[in-house]
Amino acid sequence: MSERSRVFVTRVIPSAGLDRVREAADAEVWLDDLPPPREVLLQKVHGVDGLLSLLTDRVDDELLDSAGPSLRVVSNFAVGYDNIDVPACARRGVAVGNTPGVLTETTADLAFALLMATARRLPEGHDFVRDDRWQTWGPMLLLGKDVHGATLGLVGFGRIGREMARRAVGFGMRTLYFDKVRADAVTETELAATYAPLETVLAESDFVSLHTVLSDETRHLIDAAALAQMRPGAILINTSRGAVVDQVALADALRSNRLFAAGLDVTDPEPLRADHPLVGLPNCLILPHIASASERTRDRMAEKAADNLIAGIRGEPLPDPVIS
Ligand code: DGY
Repeated sequence: MSERSRVFVTRVIPSAGLDRVREAADAEVWLDDLPPPREVLLQKVHGVDGLLSLLTDRVDDELLDSAGPSLRVVSNFAVGYDNIDVPACARRGVAVGNTPGVLTETTADLAFALLMATARRLPEGHDFVRDDRWQTWGPMLLLGKDVHGATLGLVGFGRIGREMARRAVGFGMRTLYFDKVRADAVTETELAATYAPLETVLAESDFVSLHTVLSDETRHLIDAAALAQMRPGAILINTSRGAVVDQVALADALRSNRLFAAGLDVTDPEPLRADHPLVGLPNCLILPHIASASERTRDRMAEKAADNLIAGIRGEPLPDPVIS
């Protein structure tokens, strides 16, 4: 009788994927709402063949050593994998998978929702009614910024950035983008997006939306100097990773009203505690990293994460490899 592979799943994921994992392997699933504490995670991975991780789990040399030579695959339930030391996995021949493609549009929807909500001050309006401060219709009440006809600046023009550009077309916006690699002419024409250097994107956009990966190069890409390059009264949207933005500098720019608002789905750290300077600012809308959180998308992410995990423990090529 052949032995079943052992895997550790660091949180409950939708059954669309979890059922597949349970069918294919002996799966231990961490049932708590909070991630396993580090010491527990290190102990749980010992001797497993596969690990299904979340962006809250740091996969580094220490964890890989603790797992030992049986580990064949780390399957991340996310498209981003900055929580994983990929070279460390590569050195040990551990495959790494992620979940690209299935969350693109859902994430762009949320980024656009942040853009609309901050431009038109929806959270402030909602609080105004809920706090019983609404006395009458007011000509000067909660004036915001127009979205239609405005310039959208995209920093990062991968899948999600491009879907933002597609949404912007419907709102009659002008779109500028910066990326390390310029898109082909057909894509630029289809999405009505114009390539520009980062400085130009920052200086000419009414909305700057971040869609870059987190790397050594992009950590604090949007620092005090970059924020100072943005148009007075502009709005910053971040659905990428919190550390792409220097949050101290952002809080200054928002407090002084040099920026009109910010809409953040990601922060550094996560969670951001209620006493953080950004949390109390009325012009800063912060969400708890939910850009991909639609039922259908999370099902599809679970399926992808399961398929990568199962392929990895079988020694087969991963359907969505970061490295195979
Ligand atoms: C990701 O996939 O990287 C998102 O941040 C969470 O869906």
